[in-house]
Amino acid sequence: MSHHRPDPASTAFPRADGLLLRPFEDADAPALIEAYRDETLRRRTRNAVHDAEQAARWLAVQHEGRASGTRYAFAVLEAGGLVGNVVLKRGAAGGDRAEVGYWTAAAARGRGVAPRAVEALTVWAFEAFAGDGLVRIDLLHEGDNDASCRVAEKSGYAFTEIVPAFPPYPMDGHRHSRKRLDASEGHGSE
Ligand SMILES: CC(C)(COP(=O)(O)OP(=O)(O)OC[C@H]1O[C@@H](n2cnc3c(N)ncnc32)[C@H](O)[C@@H]1OP(=O)(O)O)[C@@H](O)C(=O)NCCC(=O)NCCS
Repeated sequence: MSHHRPDPASTAFPRADGLLLRPFEDADAPALIEAYRDETLRRRTRNAVHDAEQAARWLAVQHEGRASGTRYAFAVLEAGGLVGNVVLKRGAAGGDRAEVGYWTAAAARGRGVAPRAVEALTVWAFEAFAGDGLVRIDLLHEGDNDASCRVAEKSGYAFTEIVPAFPPYPMDGHRHSRKRLDASEGHGSE
């Protein structure tokens, strides 16, 4: 009964400047396939979405994750077009931790899409899961992914530790974390 789904009535979708975030829809399949033509995106996500069947499977994972309360992916739209993905991953048991993931379509990179989307998702998540005790969100990236490291810095995720290589990741990574600013910390300080 204390289960860990955000109440849709009290937690609208994340809100970001100049971007619209909403859950993925089946109609996003063509734009998804287009985004996944980018080699960097495929390499970093370790995922292939080449055709309609793979896109349908990818979309099903997002739908199922939302239904089970373990995965909240949002399509990031700019002027009606898909420019990115941002996702909050939660353990099945809920709890005080979560993880954020993201990508930006190649043509839309370098304009702060990912940092704005991550910021919006973070604010949304701490509110949506406050009752569930969420206090910390982690962001992990491969050690040579400097662009992702910049996203972490720009969206308030402080570097916390080096994560040793583990399959399927052949090199050490970085963990960054952002903590919920609790009411006492948030009052009276700049
Ligand atoms: C990492 C990524 C999400 C950044 O998204 P973004 O919306 O471009 O973010 P920003 O605009 O803040 O740019 C971040 C950094 O990317 C680099 N960058 C800038 N323009 C770029 C471009 N046109 N193409 C690629 N990288 C660019 C810069 O290092 C920039 O840092 P800076 O602001 O200090 O210059 C995006 O490069 C991406 O989708 N990469 C592939 C997937 C991936 O790595 N996901 C994260 C896995 S942990």
